Amino acid sequence: MAARILLVDDDAAHRSMLKTLLGSWHYQVQEACDGAEAVACVQASAFDLVLSDVRMAQMDGLSALREILAFNPALPVILMTAYSSVETAVEALRLGAFDYLIKPLDFTALAETIKRAVTTPHTPLEPRQVRSLLEEPACGILGQSTLMQKLLSDIATVAPTEATVLICGESGTGKELVARALHAQSERAGNPFVVVNCAALAENLLESELFGHEKGAFTGADKRREGRFVQADHGTLFLDEIGEMPLAVQAKLLRCLQQGEVQRVGADRPITVDVRVVAATNRKLDEEVAKGNFRQDLFFRLNVISLEVPALRARREDIPILAVHFLEVFARRNKKDLKGFAPKAMDSLVRYAWPGNVRELENAVERAVIMAKESFIGQEDLPPALLGAIPEQSSALAGMTLDHVERLAIEQTLRETGDNKSETARRLGITRATLHNKLKKYSLE
Ligand SMILES: Nc1ncnc2c1ncn2[C@@H]1O[C@H](COP(=O)(O)OP(=O)(O)OP(=O)(O)O)[C@@H](O)[C@H]1O
Ligand SMILES: [Mg+2]
Repeated sequence: MAARILLVDDDAAHRSMLKTLLGSWHYQVQEACDGAEAVACVQASAFDLVLSDVRMAQMDGLSALREILAFNPALPVILMTAYSSVETAVEALRLGAFDYLIKPLDFTALAETIKRAVTTPHTPLEPRQVRSLLEEPACGILGQSTLMQKLLSDIATVAPTEATVLICGESGTGKELVARALHAQSERAGNPFVVVNCAALAENLLESELFGHEKGAFTGADKRREGRFVQADHGTLFLDEIGEMPLAVQAKLLRCLQQGEVQRVGADRPITVDVRVVAATNRKLDEEVAKGNFRQDLFFRLNVISLEVPALRARREDIPILAVHFLEVFARRNKKDLKGFAPKAMDSLVRYAWPGNVRELENAVERAVIMAKESFIGQEDLPPALLGAIPEQSSALAGMTLDHVERLAIEQTLRETGDNKSETARRLGITRATLHNKLKKYSLE
């Protein structure tokens, strides 16, 4: 398939000349007339390369470069500048541009640079934004999005206190990582961090797991056993999936939280413990309370401080960083020398909705690392679910002009129908004549 190039220039004549030239080299070309339109195009569909002018009336090439790479750091961007300004060139490369060319263009150099960019996927490990953020993640929690930065700052505030913390978030968002960070940043850090998965055990077993039991307390209790609470003394007890805890155990937990004491199953006296409890749930606990599945008093007790770990699709800016991080981890583990993601692979990653959040991303990258046959991960190495991903257009489209949205819809449908005009018109719900007029209007013929 021909590589897709986004051509960005506010000079219509220059653009049209380049479009013809690139077309003659068998590239598929889409045009944008300024930086803002270029950013919108990149957010709306996948490209292999961006070729952009630097000086433009609306948004200049460097600002566009910054925004394009924030969306997809694997996308090679070649800048063209009429001025041999060393500063601009240095700045462009520092921001992660693939290369820059001086106008008037030397077409041989242009051909070579484009070929180099589309055949050896530009490693996303390079853009500085990604690199620098990988250096010092707080407790292994990566994320540059405002949502994650806020969460990290809340963790830092809450961690040193003795407050019980309830961590909420969809499955795979990183709740356990947050719980570990709360422990690591507290004065309890040198003491145990003990995990109990409340969903994994039946009621009676969970009770004995948490609080321990005396010898002979029930059939099979042939030895006295310390519970997890005692194991976590002076440390932190992480109660995962607390929403699954049976009501009877909830009552005992509440007593324990209020009195700082635990009673082994079958014991007649409680023992004092010093444990900080951090709980996590992927359910909406207030709804579980309303349904009668969760004790309201326990909910209030746990919910003194609650932290929400946002879904990955609510912070897409974090996807490239996480993807690159997992690529490094799994490449090392599988002894593969991988340079990064091909632009379209990265594009699929940032577009997908990730119902399984970071864990799903981690698994997808692991699979891709294993499948990769070249020195980079291509779109074909990703799980099939990602490739059928319907772009979440709502956010990408916000702020575009209606004409622009219309043009994108037409282009995308044409692509999907293999340039079949009748089918495109049918899918868009317009007549062939209307489609024809619009193709003319947007010079898409
Ligand atoms: N911000 C992050 N930075 C780096 N790695 C992350 C991040 N968030 C999650 N992970 C990784 O993703 C995986 C899932 O995270 P974790 O187990 O903490 O999620 P969870 O919310 O507890 O999931 P579940 O609800 O399925 O138990 C782990 O391997 C974790 O290390
Ligand atoms: Mg978990």
